[in-house]
Amino acid sequence: MISSVVNALILGLIIVLSISCGGSIVDEESTSNSRLFAASCQSCHTLPKPTDKSDEEWPPLVKKYGEQAKLTVEQIDRITIYLLANN
Ligand code: HEC
Repeated sequence: MISSVVNALILGLIIVLSISCGGSIVDEESTSNSRLFAASCQSCHTLPKPTDKSDEEWPPLVKKYGEQAKLTVEQIDRITIYLLANN
């Protein structure tokens, strides 16, 4: 009887922790993607707005300019993810 109450509490705690942790990981990731975008994409011109281009237009543009900026494939992917999530 007692142990099932304890189990329920532990389970609840695990669920709460995993939800709050998951949230902060996602936030951190999107913040660092947006920082990477800001750091990489305004050395030659002003920073474009994510809403300037569509989901179809961004991937080839980020690839083109990312390669010019000597970014890694992983960095290009992260910038693309950020732009598509915010356009
Ligand atoms: C090495 C310099 C350089 C860097 C770094 C750079 N760009 Fe550019 N970008 C340019 C130049 C030059 C143009 C305008 C002329 C052209 O079409 O090439 C331009 C134009 C653009 C345009 C307008 C193109 C259009 O067809 O409307 C977008 C959008 C853009 N850049 C996005 C980015 C993004 C996103 C990044 C970061 C991954 C980035 N740029 C980094 C040089 C750069």
